[in-house]
Amino acid sequence: MVISYIHLGSLLPLALKCFKILYLNPPPFTFQQQDSEGYIAVEKNIVWHHATVTRERREKLNKHRAKVLWFTGLSGSGKSTLAHALEEELHQRGCRTYVFDGDNVRHGLCGDLGFSVQDRTENIRRIGEMAKLFVDAGVIALTAFISPIREDRDRARSLLPHGDFLEVYVKCSLEKCEERDVKGLYKRARAGEIPEFTGISSPYEEPLMPEVVIDTEFDALDESVAKMIKALEERGIIPNRVV
Ligand code: ADX
Repeated sequence: MVISYIHLGSLLPLALKCFKILYLNPPPFTFQQQDSEGYIAVEKNIVWHHATVTRERREKLNKHRAKVLWFTGLSGSGKSTLAHALEEELHQRGCRTYVFDGDNVRHGLCGDLGFSVQDRTENIRRIGEMAKLFVDAGVIALTAFISPIREDRDRARSLLPHGDFLEVYVKCSLEKCEERDVKGLYKRARAGEIPEFTGISSPYEEPLMPEVVIDTEFDALDESVAKMIKALEERGIIPNRVV
């Protein structure tokens, strides 16, 4: 009994400290409660509005499923090239698509972000949320970001129902990307002119279980597009082409 009082006594200051920290610095996130139809953000007094035109109805109209195709890989691995070539093919098949490209998005929506690990995390958080909205809009959203941190990619995946997020590892060795050096950035990074450059002075965490691996070091672009189309057909995301 005496021992437990001593324990309680020693825990009290710690409990008080936690209370003060939480009281003075409320968490930045919003507590959410689930009702029968969705989520109510209690703190901000905002309530989710349910559209009558649903994702399912949009998908039916589009005649294909809405998904996120999340391309990840080193700078210069060919993410954007592949995403745009695949989009071209999908568009010709009558699919609704949109490509989010790292370099482009960083001109606008993410123009305030740099390349520290924290900024990259925020970059991927925004894109994840944006891609989720596009899936709700019935679109096949193709995202081409280095997205070097596994946890950030997993968080983007967790925003969507199981099976709606396909991680595509655009695999290419650092040596090959550096040899290509399409934008001349590797040379500058090696010269110390660009800090925190992925693969040189900032980490890249390879996907552990990507849905698709595209090896751009050895496969031609049309082969890679064909592999992606096959993966989409096999999963029933787009209808099989009648030949
Ligand atoms: S991510 O890491 O946050 O996912 P993102 O894909 O948006 O990066 O942007 C990567 C592109 O920004 C590269 O293809 C390259 O053109 C450019 N870039 C500029 N600085 C860096 C850097 N320090 N590291 C990586 N890419 C950079």
